Amino acid sequence: MTDTAVIAHDQVLHIHDLAVSRGAGPVVRGVSLDIPPGQITALLGPNGAGKSSLVLAVGGVLRPLSGSVVLRDSELTGRRPEKIRAAGVAIVPEGRRLLGDLTVEENLQVATYALSREQAAQGRARVLELFPELEKRMGIESRLLSGGEQQMLVLAQALVSEPRFILMDELSLGLAPVVLQRLIPAVRSIADSGIGVLLIEQFATVALGLATQVHVMDRGRIRFTGLASELRERPERLQSAYLLGGAALEPDQVRRGA
Ligand SMILES: Nc1ncnc2c1ncn2[C@@H]1O[C@H](COP(=O)(O)OP(=O)(O)OP(=O)(O)O)[C@@H](O)[C@H]1O
Ligand SMILES: [Mg+2]
Repeated sequence: MTDTAVIAHDQVLHIHDLAVSRGAGPVVRGVSLDIPPGQITALLGPNGAGKSSLVLAVGGVLRPLSGSVVLRDSELTGRRPEKIRAAGVAIVPEGRRLLGDLTVEENLQVATYALSREQAAQGRARVLELFPELEKRMGIESRLLSGGEQQMLVLAQALVSEPRFILMDELSLGLAPVVLQRLIPAVRSIADSGIGVLLIEQFATVALGLATQVHVMDRGRIRFTGLASELRERPERLQSAYLLGGAALEPDQVRRGA
């Protein structure tokens, strides 16, 4: 889909004025953003900005203080995670959380328990088309997979129920560059299939290469929004957005430990 495509309002996942509190206080302070179908929307920002908290609140894992998440005029805010998933919104939380002692096959089954046999078979066929590597690993305990294969399985779990939107939190964390290069076209083809993707990504260059719209979040708020196509031409604009938050632009220095 192009930058200028007109997308019907009711096809978009709307996050409006969302606020989330955790531990010491508010960590998401009135964030509004739209996730259109068939596009990759990037959410960047320094450590502690509130990106993961936003994803968890959209997915129903954290209960927002206020604000709303709306899809097709239907309010998802405050619903339980499985209801939000059933409404078509899947999240891939930060850190690969698999049931390590279960096989790849069993991990996929866990993700399809609420589906009919037919839906499960269809979803399974689709994810194996995207990640054929998993096919030969079906009988293996998931803890024995490589980091890249684990991330494919986590994505497969989110995709197997055929969501309309997927929020991906730091897919590249801890992955070797060559493995990340394998995942990038997969993310692209997920969006090309019509799914709206929110991509939280530590490597700004990867995000800019994939995204249509880019948001930079810091200290609980969206501080900057721009088109990736413009930022690719004028990366200094993104740099100043990061500098607002006191973090360096160098993508591999933006986050923890750097
Ligand atoms: N389990 C928790 N309990 C209390 N506070 C938390 C918890 N997890 C995160 N926080 C705090 O919430 C704020 C936002 O954290 P969050 O993880 O959402 O940021 P982030 O943008 O995802 O950062 P990162 O880039 O490091 O993943 C931070 O101040 C963090 O310390
Ligand atoms: Mg995070």
